[in-house]
Amino acid sequence: MKKISAFLLALTVTLGLTACSNEENKSVGNSKTTNTEDTTSNDSSLNKDGKVLIAYFTMPEDVDTEGVDAVSGASIVVKDNQVMGNVEYMANVIHETVGGDLFQIETVEDYPLDHEPLVDQAAQEQDDNVRPELSTHVENMDTYDTIILGYPNWWGDMPQALYTFLEEYELSGKTIIPFCPHGGSGFSNTINTIEELQPNSTVSEDGLTIARDDVADSEQTIVEWLKSLGY
Ligand SMILES: Cc1cc2nc3c(=O)[nH]c(=O)nc-3n(C[C@H](O)[C@H](O)[C@H](O)COP(=O)(O)O)c2cc1C
Repeated sequence: MKKISAFLLALTVTLGLTACSNEENKSVGNSKTTNTEDTTSNDSSLNKDGKVLIAYFTMPEDVDTEGVDAVSGASIVVKDNQVMGNVEYMANVIHETVGGDLFQIETVEDYPLDHEPLVDQAAQEQDDNVRPELSTHVENMDTYDTIILGYPNWWGDMPQALYTFLEEYELSGKTIIPFCPHGGSGFSNTINTIEELQPNSTVSEDGLTIARDDVADSEQTIVEWLKSLGY
């Protein structure tokens, strides 16, 4: 059954990206910048007066950026000549709205930029249940009350780097608010998985999922979502 599901997911992902294969090429590099901008945090309805960390993992693929269809189908967003992964874009909108600190979860080993090798590696990592070593770390996790946590849906789960991240820290008493762009699967079972990895934290059931083709136009949706949470 898992194999059938995996096949259907692979089909979804592949079909979603086929649309961009005929466009002109412009290279997209892996973003390796770790943002640690520190601004004033606002209150959360889930954890008033808390300091906010927006932690995210993103993996923009090396695709054509000419043509709107190509961009949306390829899970990247281009704004002001800046190319971002979908999660990265959502994280930036959240940061602009909420304040707090922005933190990119990055791995020591780079992932392939091309789609097929990337999906193959992600599947293999999931099968092997690996914990990719992270190259970025939160030094002052104790100071945060709320973690707004972003990741792409990979094979119906979080990328394995999210397991490394969630196992690295003790998040007892903190509130975790997930957000996740996807190709049709939404959160899958990732909310439960986060709860299992951090049983003493409060994992919000009011997280935000956005279909990857809608992310580029999702600013208002994200702002409304944050408003509904009390930001
Ligand atoms: C390795 C891999 C596996 C994926 N698996 C799924 C999946 O199982 N279900 C789904 O809805 N989308 C899946 N997607 C699509 C991503 O969730 C979607 O493109 C997301 O917007 C990527 O965000 P990013 O550009 O910030 O990395 C997959 C994408 C990749 C690269």
